[in-house]
Amino acid sequence: MELRRKDLLGIADLTREEIALILDNAAILKEISTRSIKKVPTLRGRTVVTLFYEPSTRTRMSFEIAAKRLSADTVSLTVAASSAVKGETLADTAANLEAMRPDLLIIRHQASGAPHFLAKRLKCGVINAGDGLHEHPTQALLDMLTVKEAKGRLHGLKVAIVGDILHSRVARSNIHGFTKMGSEVTVAGPATLLPPYLDTLGVKIAPSLEEAVAGADVIMMLRIQLERMGQMFFSTLREYSKQFGLALRHLDLAKKDVIIMHPGPMNRGVEISPEVADGPHSVILDQVTNGVAVRMAVMLLLMGDKA
Ligand code: CP
Repeated sequence: MELRRKDLLGIADLTREEIALILDNAAILKEISTRSIKKVPTLRGRTVVTLFYEPSTRTRMSFEIAAKRLSADTVSLTVAASSAVKGETLADTAANLEAMRPDLLIIRHQASGAPHFLAKRLKCGVINAGDGLHEHPTQALLDMLTVKEAKGRLHGLKVAIVGDILHSRVARSNIHGFTKMGSEVTVAGPATLLPPYLDTLGVKIAPSLEEAVAGADVIMMLRIQLERMGQMFFSTLREYSKQFGLALRHLDLAKKDVIIMHPGPMNRGVEISPEVADGPHSVILDQVTNGVAVRMAVMLLLMGDKA
């Protein structure tokens, strides 16, 4: 089966079969990163442009590493040093980049829908590396790969997603992904950080962290996104941490072999205690490792057979 798409814009658009295809390919491609020479010639001669309007450590680096491991040429536009600061629009910036004939444009933007806007206008493929509050599809794919590796399956698992759901594109993509793949998703967070449309997404809403993690196979903690909050959505960080911060004692409520996830960057001591983040149940760095494999798979499936 092929991924018959020009772009990867969101998990909501993908079928179960497409998600499985990407995860299967990522599992195979992961081996390349364990070799002493971590490179295959598959995408030699292809050009990948990254265009990040928001900060990133994991996503940007892993896209660049993934492209290089497939022998694609990568070019990264530093937005703060680009003509965007002189007022050039996103559409003009993208059109000018496309005039240099890249094969793939990877974009992170603060506006929900920015990658969709470009995908409609550009001939080259577009990958959404996070758009506003909307989606972060490759994050959800790497999260699903990490869970599948740890549990052997996605179907029938209890997945708790806890924290700032309202501002989290990671939560939204993961809700789409895990529910499509047959997991049971429960979310929890302060009422002010739970979006009103949650009940349309097929998730359960737990009234507390304790109830969300009870019997969970997977606990995914989310960062409090203070940079997206124009006003405080809770009284104090201390109060938030007391109610929704994951501590060692909470792990006793979950399954014995529960895994702990966090997309990063973490606010240690706020949504997750250092003992949990660095403890034996944590797969947080496995998520990062799998980010390279998943992004290799996505780029290969989007570009590989279109020579
Ligand atoms: N998980 C994630 O998107 O991290 P970055 O913001 O560092 O890319």
